[in-house]
Amino acid sequence: MNRLNNRICLVTGAASGIGLAIAETFLREGATVLLTDIDAAAGERHVARLRDEGLNALFQQHDVTDEARWTQVLSTVKERWGRLDVLVNNAGIAVLGDVETLTLAQWRKTNAVNLDAVFIGTQQAIAVMKGQGGSIINVASIEGFIGEPMVPSYNASKGGVRIFTRSAAAHCARKGYAIRINNLCPGYAATAMISGGLEEMGGDVAQQFQSYLQQRIPMGRLGLVEEIAKGALFLASDDSSYMTGSDLVVDGGYLAQ
Ligand code: NAI
Repeated sequence: MNRLNNRICLVTGAASGIGLAIAETFLREGATVLLTDIDAAAGERHVARLRDEGLNALFQQHDVTDEARWTQVLSTVKERWGRLDVLVNNAGIAVLGDVETLTLAQWRKTNAVNLDAVFIGTQQAIAVMKGQGGSIINVASIEGFIGEPMVPSYNASKGGVRIFTRSAAAHCARKGYAIRINNLCPGYAATAMISGGLEEMGGDVAQQFQSYLQQRIPMGRLGLVEEIAKGALFLASDDSSYMTGSDLVVDGGYLAQ
């Protein structure tokens, strides 16, 4: 129950879905969590609910593509707590469009949120954690291992995250920083990202995709956000003390076949 006692954690994209579940899991394990998101209304609402339960949650509005805002958010963390123990780079978007129809603007937008922001966050968190150590968790995806015809920019961004994490992790370990950096790679989980995608596909295509997924996933169902969050808890806690530059796949067996 207290695997993250007294840890100071920052979770981006924490106003819904997987990010919110990770924040809640960390809070219930004794952590103080700064939840950030571009959606201030949802973020404030969830933090009020969590604080009512007596949990140490705070919210700040934060667009992860804004480098200057990252500096402000991390300055607040330093001023308030003097350190950062865990960063979860979770904020992400999925844009539908195959390689023939996707626009360059859509490609760039996906990569700005899913990949560039992970670089900015990781770089700035290392500067804060350097003297004391910490854990950085980059939320990649099974879609960073395989190609899915409908989401080429998403595939590229998540594949980029997976390899970037290895490079940054090796750098920190070689420098003796005691900072571990790993990828959490969820399979399909029932969140707004998936329901939004299905809505966009519409009608028959959405139904076909849903039944394809169910057949494709050996465990025959989507993941629960709480099941994904348990992976983040492992990477955040000392239980993963010998793990860095690696992938933790939580996917109901999707990549196994
Ligand atoms: P979601 O859509 O429920 O939540 C994403 C959150 O990120 C939202 O609260 C949104 O407001 C926020 N966000 C979007 N752009 C932002 C920005 N520029 N700055 C700050 N916040 C921003 O999505 P979900 O499913 O919870 O996804 C979370 C992470 O998990 C993403 O990185 C996603 O790619 C990854 N993932 C999700 C899977 C799934 O099946 N749901 C599977 C594998 C990975």
